[in-house]
Amino acid sequence: MRSTVDGRVESKAKPVKVLMVCLGNICRSPTAEGVLRSLLQAQGLHEQILVDSAGTAGWHEGNPPDSRTIRAAALRGYDLSSQRSRPVVAHDFAEHDYILAMDQQNLRDLERICPPLHHSKLGLLLQHGSTGRQHVPDPYEGAAADFDEVLDLCENACAAFLQHLVAQHDLGNRGAR
Ligand code: 4NP
Repeated sequence: MRSTVDGRVESKAKPVKVLMVCLGNICRSPTAEGVLRSLLQAQGLHEQILVDSAGTAGWHEGNPPDSRTIRAAALRGYDLSSQRSRPVVAHDFAEHDYILAMDQQNLRDLERICPPLHHSKLGLLLQHGSTGRQHVPDPYEGAAADFDEVLDLCENACAAFLQHLVAQHDLGNRGAR
């Protein structure tokens, strides 16, 4: 609850929390996090919807995204440089409302460690959007074009996912209320 200048009391809804997940949390899920965050900022929804990312493996814990990921994203106006890799932890399943994996293996790994109570929160990012694809391919051993493809897929899916969130949580036209 908070008071407005004219003394009315408004309740502030709990934010919707989204976790993007890949293997290393240095290429795909940081990209998805950065793309969704940018859309949220542009639409003024960054307080109602929070986004984070993590990896099913902790190999790169504490590291910034891969330099190729940072570079490709920067060319499209996304600044991923302050992100730091971290592994998925047990608390993430209770904490987040949506946990979106980049590929089927990530999803299987999440399903193995997710308490049954929270299984309905798990899904694939590319369930959203019109790419006709299911998985964001791992670009780690790839070339610059593979990092661009990650961005293409994340941009398409995140825009559709955000529309879904706005409809699902009645977040449209907040300024008009
Ligand atoms: P990501 O890509 O899962 O999209 O972050 C990878 C990053 C690192 C490794 C594999 C995939 N790795 O083997 O270290």
